[in-house]
Amino acid sequence: MKKHKLELEPSLIGGDLGNAVATAKQAVDAGANILHLDVMDGLFVPNLTIGPDIVGKIRENVPENFHLDVHLMIYHPENFIEKFVKVGCEEITFHVEATEDVRHVLDYIRKCNRYAGLALKPDTPVELVEPYLKDLDKVLVMTVEPGFGGQSFMEEMLNKVKILANYRKKYNLDFDIQVDGGINFDTGLQSVQAGANRLVCGSFFYKQPDLASAVRKFDSFQEVSS
Ligand code: DX5
Ligand code: ZN
Repeated sequence: MKKHKLELEPSLIGGDLGNAVATAKQAVDAGANILHLDVMDGLFVPNLTIGPDIVGKIRENVPENFHLDVHLMIYHPENFIEKFVKVGCEEITFHVEATEDVRHVLDYIRKCNRYAGLALKPDTPVELVEPYLKDLDKVLVMTVEPGFGGQSFMEEMLNKVKILANYRKKYNLDFDIQVDGGINFDTGLQSVQAGANRLVCGSFFYKQPDLASAVRKFDSFQEVSS
């Protein structure tokens, strides 16, 4: 089985969203390889954030090898895949609860040669994503209710991470497992120990006095990852 590379993903909304390009550059300068971009429609979650235009502006101002990972918290994600592909996102994740045709959306993202992720809210059982695990690149386990940064980590979600990691091993699959919400050095380490390798971190990251050393500290969790 492929060794899963640990990645810390700063989440844009944890920094100054009004200066999105500068906030993205802070992540680049700190040594992160990926930026997490939360897209909300005010319906699937009770909040609004950014759309493809701002994401495109960020793309124009960060290095080519710095990946943009869009987390769509919107209904009908199929209507927006092409737009996010066009502005240069490498990874697109949508929610299993947000569309009736999950397989079609996953196939569509992969057909566009993008990394396809499927997310699940805290109340959604992990069984709902199982039928798709052979056909995706990443599962995002929400560790808070989606919609807002700065909430507390829901420890019981680690069980979902463990189930997914066991499934991955049992069927010799190689999807990444991502956690999103309430990640700090403690909850990040616990998540990695449970089997996660992609850590999204918003408010905690951008509050750090030294962003580069925070990236290095998260990266050091690779030693305990499976
Ligand atoms: C919440 C978003 C998260 C958010 C996490 O709906 O999906 O990506 O940025 O923020 P923190 O790390 O502050 O919980
Ligand atoms: Zn997110």
